Amino acid sequence: MGIGEVSGWDWLGARLHGVREWIDARFPMSKLFREHASEYYAPKNFNFWYYFGALALVVLIVQIVSGIFLTMNYKPSAEEAFASVEYIMRDVEWGWLIRYIHSTGASAFFVVIYLHMFRGLLYGSYRKPRELIWIFGMLIYLSLMAEAFFGYLLPWGQMSYWGATVIVSLFGAIPVIGEGLAEWIRGDFYISDITLNRFFALHVVALPLALVFLVVAHIMALHEVGSNNPDGIEIKDQKGDDGIHPIDGIPFHPYYTVKDLVGFIVFAIIFSAIVFFAPDMGGYFIEHANFEPADPLRTPEHIAPVWYFTPFYAILRAVPDKTFGVILMGLAVFLLFFLPWLDRSPVRSIRYKGWMTKLALGSFAVSFVALGYLGMQPATTVYTNLSRLFTVIYFLFFAAMPFYSRWDNTRPLPDRVRGHD
Ligand code: HEM
Repeated sequence: MGIGEVSGWDWLGARLHGVREWIDARFPMSKLFREHASEYYAPKNFNFWYYFGALALVVLIVQIVSGIFLTMNYKPSAEEAFASVEYIMRDVEWGWLIRYIHSTGASAFFVVIYLHMFRGLLYGSYRKPRELIWIFGMLIYLSLMAEAFFGYLLPWGQMSYWGATVIVSLFGAIPVIGEGLAEWIRGDFYISDITLNRFFALHVVALPLALVFLVVAHIMALHEVGSNNPDGIEIKDQKGDDGIHPIDGIPFHPYYTVKDLVGFIVFAIIFSAIVFFAPDMGGYFIEHANFEPADPLRTPEHIAPVWYFTPFYAILRAVPDKTFGVILMGLAVFLLFFLPWLDRSPVRSIRYKGWMTKLALGSFAVSFVALGYLGMQPATTVYTNLSRLFTVIYFLFFAAMPFYSRWDNTRPLPDRVRGHD
């Protein structure tokens, strides 16, 4: 190419630059990208636990896109719902893939979210000034539970029907207003076509909207105060020579976009393996009874919710009195909201906390998993007693937190973040 000649790439670059300037003069595209990616400084010591926020975002998008395609062939009526799902599985082109992506995505969402929340517990990410990030997160978690519950009725299988029957009847245990409330939720005296229709509306419109709105608020709050990190110290306290950028911060793009890409690829491999080789995951992701159409006259032998609800279901069954069981189950979720104020430790991260907090958090994690397992088992005497034991440990974690978090021997905090260990 001779001097003065312009290559095709230069020409394209100039055009794209022109387009960008055109947009920037009308919409703050580059400004948003700078503020939230290329000039958003995140701590340089993010580790494994920091993959799950980005992955939660990926799963949210996967669920919305696959859900839109499912809705194109699904029929929200008691007469046709089950058959329409079978039609999607057998006759719609790639329908089986879309459905299995969506059903696997539901479980993947909870795996990712539970790990994401656990990271918050490990590093005290809910502590001041990140209380609102945590509260938006908890509202996301509640919405996600509602979203999964409404979605599970839609295939109108035996477990859809009886699961919904059991859960909605729990509201009936609330004194005075209970029965009226349960009827209001169902829109009928039992789970019926009317219930299916409203659950469909909530599942495909109301809750996805709420989720997207809450996720935007969650990330706006995060970018306002900046990310926490495994050391739980503020990187903003140590600025570089320019007096603006934290020494221990690196731009989110390209450093963390590249890191998250690695996480995404590993996630996509595991996710695809499940979708293609074990979409029902041995009955854990899609329960076996749900391959039979709903029959209001025949109760399945063993009704259990999907795995992500079973810790709370075990708490419910551990209590002999139904009303008290429902209250305790609600409290098990609700208490998480108050973590920012229950934790009185002078340090955030588990790395600098003492043995009491480590023991408490460890026991809490074990009790959550154990309750999850017990909630899937039949309610025999041994299992029920074990559920009681783990329920007590679960609640002690919260009830005793204001004390052990203060009494615990903490280690001195470093001035700068440490590398990986
Ligand atoms: C759709 C669901 C969710 C999405 C898409 C999401 C997304 C994110 C992203 C992208 C980040 C920054 C990257 C990272 O720190 O991993 C983050 C941080 C955070 N999220 Fe979530 N999140 C979700 C749900 C939740 C839930 C349910 C909670 C807790 C109840 C939560 C609590 C937090 C906290 C405390 C942080 C700050 C962590 C830190 O700086 O150490 N999030 N979230």
